[in-house]
Amino acid sequence: MADNDALPANIHCARDYEDLARQVLKAPTFAHVAGGAGRDTAVAANLAALEAVRITPRVLRDLTHGATTCRLGGRRHPIWLAPVAFQELFHAGAERETARAAAATGTCMVVSTLSSLPLEEVTGPDRWFQLYAQPSRQATLDLVRRAESAGYGAIMLTVDAPVHAPGLTSLRAGFRGGLTPANLRDAPPVDTSLAPGEGRVFQGFLRHAPTWADVEWLRGHTRLPLWLKGIMHPDDARTARESGADGLVVSNHGGRELDAAPASLTALPAIRATMGSDFPLLFDGGVRSGQDVFRAIALGADGVMIGRLQAYALAVAGALGVGHMIKLLREELEVCMALSGCASLADIAQADLSGRPSAGGN
Ligand SMILES: Cc1cc2nc3c(=O)[nH]c(=O)nc-3n(C[C@H](O)[C@H](O)[C@H](O)COP(=O)(O)O)c2cc1C
Repeated sequence: MADNDALPANIHCARDYEDLARQVLKAPTFAHVAGGAGRDTAVAANLAALEAVRITPRVLRDLTHGATTCRLGGRRHPIWLAPVAFQELFHAGAERETARAAAATGTCMVVSTLSSLPLEEVTGPDRWFQLYAQPSRQATLDLVRRAESAGYGAIMLTVDAPVHAPGLTSLRAGFRGGLTPANLRDAPPVDTSLAPGEGRVFQGFLRHAPTWADVEWLRGHTRLPLWLKGIMHPDDARTARESGADGLVVSNHGGRELDAAPASLTALPAIRATMGSDFPLLFDGGVRSGQDVFRAIALGADGVMIGRLQAYALAVAGALGVGHMIKLLREELEVCMALSGCASLADIAQADLSGRPSAGGN
């Protein structure tokens, strides 16, 4: 963790924050962030799928009216800060630092249920609340009501992590979590007892896991827009819309849940094709550059969320680092737009690509 936050001299692109964070963070903490589920194959797949998409240069267009305005809420740019738990691991100011960067850069910050600070203490003009369903509907509703009272703009229910097995990278590096999420300090203890013959996964963790019925129930209990995060199959996307979701995040949780999952990018075209051009879709998983932002938008996303780079920039230089990282991503996106003849995000959706995953595949 940086002692006094200042921008390091040797950052030339957003991804450079990864290398610096490796030097700044304790090895187990870096492994916890960088690693994924199992042997990190889904993490690698996310990066490789983005890299494989090549963008054809287009020339001599007048782009002086160009802008990165996002149709979701008319935001200045299409970059969200993904929910990243326990930010005290990266900076003493935790989520408060990230929120300062979000406010300064006109960025929507999605605050995790597992934040280090209580959700009421993470303030700013554009915040959504990431919800993990709790063992009882009442406890879930308590979190939703707190987020509503605190002025959050949407609820993002994460649906792809009903059970979590730490990955090998994190385990082998000796990362020990053991942190208490501030939002859940008063939560009653969960009954984890098993009857003879019952299994730890199905009858243990999954006993309290949410189902589609809970999504419908939640839809009926908040007026805030409801997003589902962690959708990878077109049929799930369709069911989500039928259950009342206002938007979806196409995501494999940064490769941190199912190690055998395909790259999030591979799932995106088919989900966009299924949902039609108007349905709000965010994307995350492997975004490390403005070119990656472009690639995701070209394949159907309205915007992208940034997970690991956020943690790295926070560790290296606090709010300044996160703000700088977003600025670099924006500039990288704009350069990529300029070189491919795109004046708007709508133009990006029509860009010429090669190596793209097909809409038929998932
Ligand atoms: C350290 C860390 C903590 C995370 N915590 C959460 C969380 O609390 N809730 C959640 O929905 N996703 C969480 N995620 C997943 C991110 O929101 C996002 O889906 C993922 O990081 C995107 O991939 P990227 O890291 O390659 O950008 C976390 C990711 C990391 C790296």
